[in-house]
Parts: sequence; structure tokens; C-alpha cells
Amino acid sequence: MSYARITGTGGYLPENVMTNDDIAKFVDTNDQWIRERTGIEQRHIVVDGQTTVDLAEGASRLAIEAAGIDSSDIDLIILATSTPDKIFPSSACILQARLGIHGCPAFDIQAVCSGFVYALTVAEKFIKSGSSKKALVVGAEVFSKILNWEDRATCVLFGDGAGAVILEASEETGILSTHIHADGQYEDLLRVPYGIADGYDQVKAGLAFVEMRGNEVFKVAVNTLGRIVDETLAANNMMKSDIDWLVPHQANIRIISATAKKLKMSMDQVVVTVNKHGNTSAASVPLALDVAVRDGRIKKNELLLLEAFGGGFTWGSVLVRF
Ligand code: ACO
Repeated sequence: MSYARITGTGGYLPENVMTNDDIAKFVDTNDQWIRERTGIEQRHIVVDGQTTVDLAEGASRLAIEAAGIDSSDIDLIILATSTPDKIFPSSACILQARLGIHGCPAFDIQAVCSGFVYALTVAEKFIKSGSSKKALVVGAEVFSKILNWEDRATCVLFGDGAGAVILEASEETGILSTHIHADGQYEDLLRVPYGIADGYDQVKAGLAFVEMRGNEVFKVAVNTLGRIVDETLAANNMMKSDIDWLVPHQANIRIISATAKKLKMSMDQVVVTVNKHGNTSAASVPLALDVAVRDGRIKKNELLLLEAFGGGFTWGSVLVRF
């Protein structure tokens, strides 16, 4: 049987760093509150003119190099984002042109913070069915563009960035299982309330911001991520102790710790980047993966649990033999 293996990772962050103290200069907050409630110390924020596809291109080039392939070998591009450069063409198509690739399918996936887990799930199906041999899967966001920088409850939480992987058909074990879910009934808890349906006026007026009932989102996220861990282990007849690394969506250190506790994992086995990156939505899981691969923590053949939860609500997990 053919598997889909991750053969290269890449991550790209805008150079501009915004610390908690920087934010405290323009909204009523402080470093201590942000660190204690979220674990975030700083985040990277794009400068004017820098876009989702710019970040996606940076991450993709590094993933392509790490996999030791040529861009022309890529036969599928899936880009997860909620902050596309344009309404259309898709950011995946813009990225495809930047990379000089012609003809292969390229499309965006919109599942907010679960976007990369969704994209990896879809790419794995393409590879397992034989439709694709080498896929580029990217999560990239400029959430700074959809934040109300006067709302202290949301603006401190997010950052910009991109992460990418190359997924290749292989006889060697790779992705073992994928699990994705959604429940649209929770829109009121987490959303950007305006868009095309409103004639786009509020978007043009700069009023299309993330709205979140953080406390309620927090509770649903912790419970849901606990359930997805159980679902993933049961589907693979595995035990908690089989997992070498948890690579979680980086929304809040307290949500991450709760999931690690559920898995009876020490925080030494959890990849944490929320302190340095903030919540980069669809980019957070591939960015965290890339950090731990490049610093040598994650090694070949180790078992990784990737998981995410986000707007929609959407949630999911991917179990990977790296
Ligand atoms: N600085 C100082 N005080 C603040 C700040 C801030 N930045 N933000 C809120 N507060 C205040 C509130 O006004 C409130 O004050 P009050 O008690 O006088 O009314 C107090 O702090 C407590 O507010 P809570 O919202 O109850 O704080 P909580 O402990 O729940 O932490 C947080 C808030 C960090 C947002 C948390 O709820 C959280 O992380 N939620 C989940 C976020 C998440 O996982 N999102 C999912 C993915 S995002 C996506 O998909 C796009």
C-alpha cells in the first residue's frame, strides 16, 4: 500500500516583531495579563504590502528545498487560508505562478485555524488514490489584517506567518490517519461578521474584524480536542504512550496544556511556538512542525499527533509517522 509521507517542511515569518509591551502602548493591556492568560510573548506582523502569498512563497521554497525536489515535480498545491490575497484567483493559484508551476491542480481551503489539518487530509486522499505524487500543502495567514486593533480581547492573540510541507507518495509509512469535523452552529462564538453578502462595504471600510467570545470558545476547544485525541488513538489501536510528539494548533498555552494532560504527555513532548508566534491560524501547525524538525527535536520514524480547532467550528487531527 502507498502512503503519503512528509518529506520536507518550511516556515516563514515576517521580520517585523510586535511584543506585548508594543501592544500595551495602544490598547489597555499588559505583558503579564497576555503571558498568563495565553502564553504569548510576541508575534510577527506583516509590514504594508506584505501578503499571505508572500509568506506562503517563503515557506514553500524552504519546504521544496528540504524535500530535495524541484518545483516542477509538484503536481498538487493546496493552500489553507482565511486571509487570501484576493477574492479570486485563489492564493494557491497565485502561489503556483510565483513558483513557476503550470497545469497541476491548485486550490485554497478555508477552515480557519483547522485549515492546514483539512488541507493535509485532502492532499493525503489525492496521494492515496494515485492522483498525485508530490503535493505542496501550505497554511498561510495575515490575521493582522482582520483584527480590530482597538479590541484588547482579540488583537493580542494573533500573528502572521506561513508553514508548508511537501507530501510525497511512498511505500514507507507516513500519514496513518486523518480526522476532520465541523459544526456550523457555533458561528456566533467566533467569526468575521462581514463579507460579500453585505455588499463588501464593511470590508472596504475596514470593519471586517475577528469577533470572538473567547471564554466560550476556550471551553468548547478543550472538550473537542480531548475527543479528537481519543478518536485518533482508537482508529489506530494505539495508546497515549505511543505518541512521541504533540504538534498542536497554537491558540493558547492553556488549551495546549489541557490536551497534553489528556494525553498524559509531558510538556517536553509538546511543540510550543505560541509564545513566539501567537496564533497564526492555518499557519500555526505547519510552523510548529517546521520549528521542531529544523531544531532536531522531531526525528525520522517518530509518531506525531497534529491537531487543530478553529472558526466554523472546525477541528481535526492527523497522525503521522514522520
Ligand atoms: N488585557 C487585559 N485584560 C483583558 C484583555 C487584555 N488583552 N483581554 C480581556 N481582558 C479582560 C476582560 O475584559 C475581562 O475583564 P473583566 O473581568 O473586568 O470583565 C478579563 O480580562 C477576563 O476576560 P476573559 O475573556 O474571561 O479571559 P480568559 O481567561 O477567558 O482569556 C482568552 C481570554 C485568552 C481569549 C481565552 O478565552 C482564550 O484563549 N480563548 C480561546 C481562543 C481560541 O482558542 N480561539 C480558537 C482559535 S481562533 C480561530 O479559529 C480564528
